[in-house]
Amino acid sequence: MDIRRKNTIKIRAFHRKLALRLGILGILAAVLFGVITWFDQSNRIIDKVTNRVLHGTKLFNEQISYLIDIPSWPDKKAIQNELTAFTSRASRNIKEAEGHFVYVGIWDSQFGFLASVIDDDYPLMESLKSHKKQLELELKKAQKSLYKVHRANGIPHILMATPLVDAGGKPVAYVESIFAVSPQAIASARKEIRRTVLGVIGIVLVTTLLLYPTINLLTRQLSSLTINLLDANLETLKVLGSAIAKRDSDTDAHNYRVTIYAVRLAETIGMDPQAIQSLIKGAFLHDVGKIGIRDKILLKPGRLNDKEFEIMKTHVPHGLDIVNRSAWLKDAIDVVGYHHEKVDGSGYCEGLDSQGIPLAARVFAMADVFDALTSLRPYKEPFSFEKTMAILEEGRGKHFDANLLDAFTRIARPLYDEFAGRENDGLKTQLEEIIQRHFSRDAEISLQGPSLQSVV
Ligand SMILES: [Fe+2]
Repeated sequence: MDIRRKNTIKIRAFHRKLALRLGILGILAAVLFGVITWFDQSNRIIDKVTNRVLHGTKLFNEQISYLIDIPSWPDKKAIQNELTAFTSRASRNIKEAEGHFVYVGIWDSQFGFLASVIDDDYPLMESLKSHKKQLELELKKAQKSLYKVHRANGIPHILMATPLVDAGGKPVAYVESIFAVSPQAIASARKEIRRTVLGVIGIVLVTTLLLYPTINLLTRQLSSLTINLLDANLETLKVLGSAIAKRDSDTDAHNYRVTIYAVRLAETIGMDPQAIQSLIKGAFLHDVGKIGIRDKILLKPGRLNDKEFEIMKTHVPHGLDIVNRSAWLKDAIDVVGYHHEKVDGSGYCEGLDSQGIPLAARVFAMADVFDALTSLRPYKEPFSFEKTMAILEEGRGKHFDANLLDAFTRIARPLYDEFAGRENDGLKTQLEEIIQRHFSRDAEISLQGPSLQSVV
């Protein structure tokens, strides 16, 4: 399966995940906003009903002040009759659906009881008595209009006490009332709350639904850009490797084989995926600095003299100069800069020992020498597998890391049989497979990584 097809499958899986996550988040957001709206509206709407009733009660208290002007004042019987008649009229004036007065009492200026109307059948009357008593005490103290809202069984009750004053503003009597908001008024308020909450939930869900195609489109574009960028980077890698191969040996086969050998060894010793990506880049570009070496030295058929060899060594710093110019190629420096070092410190350019040579360079050095020994050169025939391994063994602890040599020895025979000296399409196929295996993860990360988190 090629990298594009794999990525297409991953993109489909990603869109399914996006839809699922958006759906879950949309439902969670709808529930959250629904709950917040429910509590907010519960308080607001109940307060609205309470305020409406409070206003009606104030009007009631103002209107009842005519009692102090009746000719028989302060005859208790006359006041009782008048109070009963007035309360009955007032209750009709305040919409019955909103509730009714369960108590109205009137006192003279010395707080002597004159008359009252009580709804003895009202089931919550008993629980209101202590609050009524408290309000009377406060009224005696303050001698001005007071009210409080007391909820019993979830039903708001407005308790109000008001002085009735004569023309000179002097208190002549006091009136106290308790109005119970009706269950119908509460039910109607709750119905309004439910309507509002359902509206909010609907808006959140529809918004989430409308967001999906936009996020989907943006993510598709982002995914496509990421995959194109990875393709372009890999192409640059191949082109650069191929450019030096054309100058050096006229084929890409050496680059292909050393990359295959090095990656197989890296996988055998369990190098981490990021390090293997760097190794692949380094293996492809290990001799890219040879672009800066003159043909007279680079293409010389015989052995180089000392001066020529010193010049040849400069392909390492030339290579570092080249890969350092690209952020994506930069991690090839471990191989490009140190592939001629030897673990006994006798290599170049820095003469590092096994502790100082990066692991990728030690892995690559083994692959590079193995390929040189098993390939045809202008000055030699390909060595047999046995002779090659014997020469590598001679380099144990000198040129090569002993542990890496042990690991390579275990996998060398099948590598030799399959790839040594080959220049056919099998190399290219194998290399593409390696690149897909180790770089398709980048496309996967870009699809599953921060971009999705931030969007959602
Ligand atoms: Fe080199």
